[in-house]
Amino acid sequence: MAYWNKCDLIIANALVVDGSGSAATKKDVAIDNDRLVEIGSLDGWMAEERIDATGLVLSPGFIDVHTHDDLEVIKNPTMDCKVSQGVTSVVAGNCGVSISPVYRSESMPAPFPLLGKPEEFSFPGIPDYREAFERARPAVNLALLIGHSSLRLNVMKETLDRPATDQEISLMSETLQRGLDEGSIGLSSGLDYPPAFAALKSEMVSLVRVLKDYPRAIYTTHMRDESDGVVDAVQETIATGREAGVPVVISHHKCAGPSNYGRSKITLDLIKTAQQTHRLALDVYPYTASSTSLLPRFIRNAEKILIAYSDPYPEFACQTLQEVADQWRCDLNEAAERLYPAGAIYFQMDEDDLRRILAFPSTMVGSDGLPTMAHPHPRLWGTFPRVLARYVRDQKLLSLEQAIHKMTGLSAKTFNLDERGLIRKGYFADLVLFDPKTIRDTATFEHPEQPARGISKVIVNGKVVWADSANTGQRSGVFLNH
Ligand code: ZN
Ligand code: CU
Repeated sequence: MAYWNKCDLIIANALVVDGSGSAATKKDVAIDNDRLVEIGSLDGWMAEERIDATGLVLSPGFIDVHTHDDLEVIKNPTMDCKVSQGVTSVVAGNCGVSISPVYRSESMPAPFPLLGKPEEFSFPGIPDYREAFERARPAVNLALLIGHSSLRLNVMKETLDRPATDQEISLMSETLQRGLDEGSIGLSSGLDYPPAFAALKSEMVSLVRVLKDYPRAIYTTHMRDESDGVVDAVQETIATGREAGVPVVISHHKCAGPSNYGRSKITLDLIKTAQQTHRLALDVYPYTASSTSLLPRFIRNAEKILIAYSDPYPEFACQTLQEVADQWRCDLNEAAERLYPAGAIYFQMDEDDLRRILAFPSTMVGSDGLPTMAHPHPRLWGTFPRVLARYVRDQKLLSLEQAIHKMTGLSAKTFNLDERGLIRKGYFADLVLFDPKTIRDTATFEHPEQPARGISKVIVNGKVVWADSANTGQRSGVFLNH
């Protein structure tokens, strides 16, 4: 009599896209506990549960490499906005702002309000945050970057509009080092924002250099300028990474403003050349509108601006800034100032740039979703299915295998997330099962909070967290550290 192997779950007859970029093949996959225990033909295997996945694609769960989910995983641990897209892991703490380590909670400059209210910044150390994460038991895995602006806020208090002194840099370095020892995966910066404008390149090099003792750590940057000065900003980023000797990810790469349309040819050429001698990658979201705090300095480069939220005037969410200015008989700057604290959606990118950046081999997909906004940018709910529907199925810009690689294997490799991002025997069972013919985003600028279609099942560490358009109540995400 044949010997039978037992496991918890078998997914049979799926078209497996394994995340490495190699061609899809039909295979069966066995999952036991939180791991993939066998892949191929499963003769001799028995399972508690069996899913027939004929006609469906099975891929590694998507890794959202650019998020601001620091608090969202604690406040809304089912994480419907992400698991409904097939996302199983998120990287939080981007753009220079992380919820931890922050030991100060008075009023906070933009973009801190995008993460949460001042009193919600209550995690002075990474272990405090990790404990809250584990108590909340979210449905997704999370890895945390330490924000440069968060470090600045701790040591420079109200005087963020100047370069840090040597003593302040060494205090920030100590906090960063402790955070890396305690499980953070790297450093992020947001040099385009008020708390970090004044930071000199030398300040960044000193801090990024701290990562050098952590060979798996990464530096991600929302660069100093994403519009008229984007080329200089790319050069600064490359130089910073090189001088510090640390790999870099350029966040949500874009060339904002009509006068900069087409400049991704230049920036990608620079990046490609730099890659011959330095580890450099980038991420992008599949939309030609951006979203962040509503600040007068971001206004001039947008073709249209939609209000995403306003604390003093919540009724204006979803109206354009122009409409508000017309009602108030004032100019756009004044309207923006009166609406603040506020967030906006800026229509300011070129589709050809977006396509070029997305197709670039070392570009990963990251949503940059902003879960605290009343009327968020649709990227929060739509990013990953939109790539698969619009840029794979409809436009054929990427093959399915290439697109999945940019959402999984490439992301795990770039961020050093061990044993994730690929369908491999022994790896964690983070998976998404979807219909390649029907998958699509439904979130729009008018109705942004809508789950995608065509996602059949989402599995995190071996547990089904999303099935047939609803969360299952299972919350099996873990805190990812190096
Ligand atoms: Zn950013
Ligand atoms: Cu961001």
